[in-house]
Amino acid sequence: MERIYLDNAATSYPKPPQVVQKMMAYMNQIGANVGRGGYQTAYAAGGVVLDTRERLAAFFGFPFPSHVLFTPNVTFSLNLLLKGLLKPGDHLLVSSMEHNAVMRPLSQLAEKGISFDRIPCDSQGRLLLEGMEPLLKPNTKGIVMTHASNVCGTLLPIEQVGKFCKAHNLFFGVDCAQTAGSIPINMEEMCIDALAFTGHKGLMGPQGIGGLLIQPKLAEKMEPLVVGGTGSFSHQEEVPTLLPDRFEGGTLNLPGIYGLNAALEFLEQTGIQEIQEQERALTDRFLKGAASLTGVQVVGTGDASRSSEIVSLVFPHLDQGELAFLLDSQYGIMTRCGLHCAPNAHKTLGTYPKGTIRFSFGYFNTVHQIDYTLEALEQILKERG
Ligand code: ALA
Repeated sequence: MERIYLDNAATSYPKPPQVVQKMMAYMNQIGANVGRGGYQTAYAAGGVVLDTRERLAAFFGFPFPSHVLFTPNVTFSLNLLLKGLLKPGDHLLVSSMEHNAVMRPLSQLAEKGISFDRIPCDSQGRLLLEGMEPLLKPNTKGIVMTHASNVCGTLLPIEQVGKFCKAHNLFFGVDCAQTAGSIPINMEEMCIDALAFTGHKGLMGPQGIGGLLIQPKLAEKMEPLVVGGTGSFSHQEEVPTLLPDRFEGGTLNLPGIYGLNAALEFLEQTGIQEIQEQERALTDRFLKGAASLTGVQVVGTGDASRSSEIVSLVFPHLDQGELAFLLDSQYGIMTRCGLHCAPNAHKTLGTYPKGTIRFSFGYFNTVHQIDYTLEALEQILKERG
């Protein structure tokens, strides 16, 4: 049976072959730590780490490679940002479409006297810009929101929110889990103060490597989440003030950084416009095909140009879990169903508590795979709908 991977919003697959090759080359031929050893392989690894920070900074239109902080994933990056910046008595705004990577840290912080409000979104997941101003309080410190919903793909108006934050002297943090590598992002132009990303989704790197790009002025106010040895300032027991060391205690994920480095090179060579066009064309084809089927509801805007490469569907007469099982077991099609770790997004979209079945596309999917999936859905609906 053909196997078709349509769960790229959870993690992209397959990876460009260069990613695997570079990780293996590190493991087999380098293997050294960075900032600790005075020998050639350690210097070589240090060079790749620096090069990866520089590539990430250039990729996101950010002029400070020293303020590209490596973390294990976007969840860690968001925890670092929220827990490192917010103090008891502070107030934050988020959208009503957030993933638990934002909401669970905020739920913990609420116990310490940090409050938040949700900027409303409509039933297609579109942020209501006019909903921001009435929620501002004298103690509001910033806005943190996702760039695209991981449930239905709807893009949030990051550029306008960034300008609003600048005008109101608020910090602006963006969760780019679903857009980094798939949709162009420029931190300077979009007035983003902190960008949280993961390496294993649109950036096409391995799992276990992510990061936070943070403007120097904001970084000065942020406390580290984890501290320890950095290979620098070894004479002192106090946490270094220099970045990135201050926020990177312990040995870095070097195989992950090597893999991400190769993935960034692949993205640069391919071009993000080409990637976006390809993924958008597949999403558009699937959206149009799904909308023409009887017994299917499209969740979100239904417009590929206003979303990331995610399509969520509801089948009112079928159980979503059973459908996902049938797609996998009978047709080899891999999807994700349920609430996707974003309960309030589903409340906003009107799909709580049953959730949706999510199809998410990547650069390596093909038109044939889209058409095959639509045919499979049609067949199942004919038999069960
Ligand atoms: N947050 C990822 C998803 O939506 C894992 O599937």
